[in-house]
Amino acid sequence: MTVLPRFSPLLGKARVIPVITLDRVEDAVPLARALQAGGIDVVEVTLRTDAALRGCEAIARECPDLVLGIGTVLTASQIGEARDAGAHFLVTPGTSEKLGHAVAASGIPCLPGAATVSEMVALMEMGFHELKFFPAEAAGGVDYLKSVAGPLGDLRFCPTGGISPANAGTYLALGNVLCIGGSWMVPKAAISAGHWDEITALARAAAALGQ
Ligand code: 3PG
Repeated sequence: MTVLPRFSPLLGKARVIPVITLDRVEDAVPLARALQAGGIDVVEVTLRTDAALRGCEAIARECPDLVLGIGTVLTASQIGEARDAGAHFLVTPGTSEKLGHAVAASGIPCLPGAATVSEMVALMEMGFHELKFFPAEAAGGVDYLKSVAGPLGDLRFCPTGGISPANAGTYLALGNVLCIGGSWMVPKAAISAGHWDEITALARAAAALGQ
């Protein structure tokens, strides 16, 4: 079986990954710096807005110590765009066979998304062992991850979707959870108002959850 580069060596101390959606390119760097100031070492920027790729380029240039993931990758053409924008790793919300093979061929570490056991098995067949579990809460949450730990014991997950400070600790306590992702520490209102201290405080609390 192909040996694919793993995501886990990129993880730092914080086992919590902010999932960022950027409405304005100019918010990217102050936001990234605010998160780093709170102890966050890995972020995911979603490709859901026009500002995303240019925002990522700015983060890659200005915050070289931050591990930059580019998420919501849905097509093979976005893989090259993400690489050019400085992605250290990729994230997909779900993974078709076509997308999975394209990501595997790129040589870029990836957390391919899966929500069912069959999708997880298909990704294992492609050589992936570290997956995004999305949408975590809606797809069965902590109980689902506990249930797959037996039959799919080699898999490790980054659950995202519906995670908050209230349930984060329960996920992080699972043996098959590498890290968790979520948007609670990057609220839209705080970003648009430039309330970077608020974001640093949220990041600090989030980073402490996984330590
Ligand atoms: C994701 O893409 O992982 C989710 O949008 C993040 O989920 P959340 O907004 O429920 O934290």
